[in-house]
Amino acid sequence: MGEPKDIAQVMATPVYAEVVRYFSNYPGRSLMSDHSRAVLYSLVRLLRPNLVAEIGTLYAGTTEVFARALWQNGEGVVHSADPYGAERCSAVIAQWPAELQRHVQYHAKSSMDFFSRMVLESKKFGLLLIDGNHDYEYALFDLQMAARLVTPGGIVVMDNAEQTGPFRASRVFLDANPAWREIGSAIADYDPLKPFNRARASLPDTSFLLLQAPASLSIGAGPHSWGQDWITVPKVDGLHFDIVTPCRGTLFYQVQLRGFANGNRWISEDRLEGQLRLDVEQAGKQTELRFDRTMMVTAPTEYQDTLFTLELDLSWQADPGTPPLALARLPVHWAVDKR
Ligand SMILES: C[S@@+](CC[C@H](N)C(=O)[O-])C[C@H]1O[C@@H](n2cnc3c(N)ncnc32)[C@H](O)[C@@H]1O
Repeated sequence: MGEPKDIAQVMATPVYAEVVRYFSNYPGRSLMSDHSRAVLYSLVRLLRPNLVAEIGTLYAGTTEVFARALWQNGEGVVHSADPYGAERCSAVIAQWPAELQRHVQYHAKSSMDFFSRMVLESKKFGLLLIDGNHDYEYALFDLQMAARLVTPGGIVVMDNAEQTGPFRASRVFLDANPAWREIGSAIADYDPLKPFNRARASLPDTSFLLLQAPASLSIGAGPHSWGQDWITVPKVDGLHFDIVTPCRGTLFYQVQLRGFANGNRWISEDRLEGQLRLDVEQAGKQTELRFDRTMMVTAPTEYQDTLFTLELDLSWQADPGTPPLALARLPVHWAVDKR
């Protein structure tokens, strides 16, 4: 996979100039500049994501750019959501060449419904474009959900850097998530005496803010939660941590195991809370935490429709002068006896 920071270098190449020519006034109904479309195309070619997400389909203009890049890559699907386009978007996409249609899935849903669905399906995206409702509250929600569903090192593109909603949402988000970074300097260069600067953007000739996820999961004081995740067994004995960089501090954890059955009329919950001292000197260390009891939710045997979820909350109190905890992935739960 190419490095997203290279996108600025890519923009200086003759190949990119050719891409800009290709996307000049194509697709016809896309609202963005030729460079913006060319950058979206180039990012997909550079990052080679399996999945791309887009909030705000409109006439499927940028969706077509993504689909074309994925087709060139030879794999991948763009999931695009717009609650107001059920007939329009499906009709536009049906006019595309068949080979592009194979790389798109349109969802007639608001970003909130779309992201909820993607969480349920455990989807992760290498690249996301946020171009739906540009009001601050919506843009911030979309960005936070994009951050939850992006793969490590993946990119979120916020459109309309010149507008207050997406710009302020991105500033607030970067402040709260210091492990993220902007590829470019529109946010770092923000001048309070020019709050409505229409030329600001991460990349020249685009209207984008490019935000890159950290390569690992960064845990600070939080507290952090990742919501409920489906698990197949009704018991948990411990957690397995994949620690990326040396660290010193105390990890506070809360684990909630839940069981649902009988059309959600039977619900059971087991909660456990504790803390773990971590003093890790070498990078890439695996650590196991064995609970002092087995967490369990046992459904009455007559129910056939049992579902189980696990919710994990973490808070890292670093020793003074030491960095946030970096994990390769969310801690994995394990059960000694899987029955
Ligand atoms: C600026 S247009 C998207 C343009 C498109 N990306 C392009 O350049 O080809 C914004 C779209 O967002 C949609 N939208 C508005 N609120 C939304 C929401 N809550 N979730 C998803 N899409 C939304 C609108 O219906 C509209 O079609």
